[in-house]
Amino acid sequence: MSHYSRRKFVKTLTAGGAFAAGVGFTHAQAASDGPIVLEEEPQTPVSPNDRIRVAAVGMGIMGFNNVRDSLLVPGVELVAVADLYDGHLTRSQEVFGKQVVTTRDYRELIARSDVDAIIISTSDHWHDRISIEALNAGKHVYCEKPMVHKIEEGQAVIDAEKKSGKVFQVGSQYGSNMVFVKAKELIASGAIGELIMAEVYYDRQSANGAWQYSIPTDASPSTVDWDKFLGDAPKRGYDATRFFRWRNYQDYGTGVAGDLFVHLFTGLHVATGGIGPERVLATGGLHYWKDGRDVPDLIMGLYDYAATEHHPAFHVQMRCNFVDGSGGGSQVRLIGSEGVLYVEDDAIRIVNSRMASAPGYGGWDTYNTFSEAQQKEFAAWYKEKYPDEGLPMQGPAEVRYKTPEGYNAHVAHVRNFYRCIREGTKAFEDGTFGLRAAGPALATNMSYFEQRIIKWDPRTMRVVK
Ligand SMILES: NC(=O)c1ccc[n+]([C@@H]2O[C@H](COP(=O)([O-])OP(=O)(O)OC[C@H]3O[C@@H](n4cnc5c(N)ncnc54)[C@H](O)[C@@H]3O)[C@@H](O)[C@H]2O)c1
Repeated sequence: MSHYSRRKFVKTLTAGGAFAAGVGFTHAQAASDGPIVLEEEPQTPVSPNDRIRVAAVGMGIMGFNNVRDSLLVPGVELVAVADLYDGHLTRSQEVFGKQVVTTRDYRELIARSDVDAIIISTSDHWHDRISIEALNAGKHVYCEKPMVHKIEEGQAVIDAEKKSGKVFQVGSQYGSNMVFVKAKELIASGAIGELIMAEVYYDRQSANGAWQYSIPTDASPSTVDWDKFLGDAPKRGYDATRFFRWRNYQDYGTGVAGDLFVHLFTGLHVATGGIGPERVLATGGLHYWKDGRDVPDLIMGLYDYAATEHHPAFHVQMRCNFVDGSGGGSQVRLIGSEGVLYVEDDAIRIVNSRMASAPGYGGWDTYNTFSEAQQKEFAAWYKEKYPDEGLPMQGPAEVRYKTPEGYNAHVAHVRNFYRCIREGTKAFEDGTFGLRAAGPALATNMSYFEQRIIKWDPRTMRVVK
């Protein structure tokens, strides 16, 4: 057996005292014991004078979430916000107080000497530029996923991050989610044997889920700074739908893969220690949401990960379907040679099944087609060759872990950003990690639109020509 063997996992469980007995543990025992509750790392106390002053660029849905969760961290204060729709600026003051400075121009935020960190929650096509300008100005940066709009923009962000020495964290909370962190530990300890493949999906069945977000009735060229919004995108006349539903257009967004696959790659890379696939093949189509969007509403990708020091070679199939008659839902299923590990929103489930050590005969088999005499002879031969009919399965058939009550992965992720600033450490989900998650997601779009297999070099983070 390889070093990923499940035996190692059973030993770990027993040594850790999680189970009274490792070998011989039954499914019923596992179920009656209930899930093992995971523990969050204790928070280090913050002195009352330790303030981190933040400013937020982009105060749409995620801007509000990022600011709200930032303000849960002791000592974090909101100084100013920038947005291109006046209603979002008004709402920012309604929610966070009149003292919050508001502007349409994000550069005013970066120029402020009383701001330590910038939170970027704009449409994807602005991520690289604002990140680079903020890092160059000596600010720490929390930038929403996907880290960049185009793969080629990634290296410049990493360069700016390195040059600045500031904390740069990409905003996929899957990077801090304790279920993926625990999954990594379990896989490394052999819980599912040798990793063979992952089946991952994130499906939806609603208009909002398919990005048909509400457009305010007061939206107009005077309440929206349309020209500024365009940035480096092709010039065109004011269009409220494009502004408020930017995800539906390649000029500003990154489609389903950039929006959602990037989370799934982030989680997958945490759980496996993977850095990205070498081959990317995608297909899909626009089936239902024919509202003028130029991106598919169903996309499926296949990915080949080469063996590294962290994992064997494995394959991934990933899907997002916005027309899901089964009602939507998501799943991360890591399949190994001796078991499967499900990573759920707030839980992990491992179900084991080990290949029988003897092949067996009869049933759906050629054996029954043999002559009676041959069947007898075969049975005698089999008994001699496999005197032991095969080992029964050892260890628990199913083990469950659960996140503690009230656990919120986004809060944990935001908290990690401020912890890095305070401790002077690098973010785990830094520019390199961020590009290694965004790269295959964006290469998925390339494969879909260009109808070809994309070769990706996960080490240099470049498309191989
Ligand atoms: N981590 C997550 O789970 C998660 C969830 C949703 C969205 N996101 C990411 O967050 C980002 C924002 O998504 P959203 O749903 O909040 O979009 P949104 O449309 O609700 O908000 C985007 C805001 O950015 C503003 N904006 C755009 N360009 C700007 C600029 N140059 N200067 C100032 N403001 C600018 C717009 O005015 C708009 O209000 C996206 O990159 C998205 O992928 C992450």
